[in-house]
Amino acid sequence: MHISDSRTQVAIIGAGPAGLTLSHLLAAQGIDSVVVETRERDEIEGTIRAGILEQGTVDLLTSSGIDTRVLAEGTRHEGVELRFDGRGHRIDFTDLVGRSVWLYPQHEVLKDLIATRLSDNGRLHFGVSDVALDKVDTAEPEIAFTDRDGNRTRLRCDIVAGCDGSSGVSRNAFPEDVAQDHFRSYPFGWFGILTEAPPSAPELIYTHSERGFALISSRTPTVQRMYFQCDPQEAPADWSDARIWDELQTRVAGEDGFSLKEGRIFQRGVIPMRSYVRAPMRHGRLLLAGDAAHTVPPTGAKGLNLAMADVRVLAQALEGFFATREDRHLDAYGPTALRRVWRAQHFSYWMTSMLHTDPGAGAFDLQRQRGELDSLTSSRAGSTYLAEAYTGWPLSP
Ligand code: DHB
Repeated sequence: MHISDSRTQVAIIGAGPAGLTLSHLLAAQGIDSVVVETRERDEIEGTIRAGILEQGTVDLLTSSGIDTRVLAEGTRHEGVELRFDGRGHRIDFTDLVGRSVWLYPQHEVLKDLIATRLSDNGRLHFGVSDVALDKVDTAEPEIAFTDRDGNRTRLRCDIVAGCDGSSGVSRNAFPEDVAQDHFRSYPFGWFGILTEAPPSAPELIYTHSERGFALISSRTPTVQRMYFQCDPQEAPADWSDARIWDELQTRVAGEDGFSLKEGRIFQRGVIPMRSYVRAPMRHGRLLLAGDAAHTVPPTGAKGLNLAMADVRVLAQALEGFFATREDRHLDAYGPTALRRVWRAQHFSYWMTSMLHTDPGAGAFDLQRQRGELDSLTSSRAGSTYLAEAYTGWPLSP
């Protein structure tokens, strides 16, 4: 087979939020990169993911020259509601920590990033296959991939950035004796739906109930996003619209008479829940970022935000590396990024365990969770931790 040769400074595997943002930030510093992605552009831009952006993520998008619609089309949320024991309790972010979040779906962020990279003549290859990493523990690493037309390219580089998510190839290029994996699974998943209905509330509602967790979110004035805790093996096809609405309504019902505005359900699926961290985040010239290095359960929507925080640190590390050729810049990346990763791991785990019902839970567990939620919502000190973590810790310099 004919193999063509190419060269760049940073070979980026994966055109998700981490890979695309990294290539944009590097370009702004005059560092050349090539992004390779196994999925097609349409699929990336059409896959429904979470929708909450931390203040720092919005700041990064708007201040780094990305042509983003987040301020024009996203919605600012200054608080969330925690609902338990049939009543709602608002956590006021602006009052507690002077920060807020934005509701702007991940696939819209991806559309903005792809359009910006293409208009800046960024080199992006969608629909590639057989991505292989080689010599990442040398000063001359390379990757190889086959494009849509069957042509194989060998891409030599200085750095490989593994931004290819939890089932990508980058993570597996670490030798077994180097990689330390920290993992936790949960005995439940999320049943997610999109429905054609008006919003049921002005802000997101995180609900704890005897029958399990439910989250009421939104997408547009006419499309709503909702989730409810389910068995991880649940088959979405077994659920009629009526059964889904019944389950959601039962979980949010309460003495205040609150109920959800129902509509046609046009998208449904089950999302797994797990916590995962790979350490170190670097092996030689291969550096992982985003979901390739860590996964959080979805409660609290930290996944995309953590990916953006990683690549901000990584872009600075690479700027230092290319200016000096000193490894100490690469050495600093993982430890700096991991500090935020573990805080976000704790927050996501904590939100999950506080709000979900374990399949084996008894009366003690349920009452203890209500006690925890009561402590949190009735105390400024308790609420402030949630507000601070939810809106996101300041990005490290
Ligand atoms: C959404 C998803 C989340 O995991 C979350 O915590 C909040 C909102 C969403 O998809 O809108």
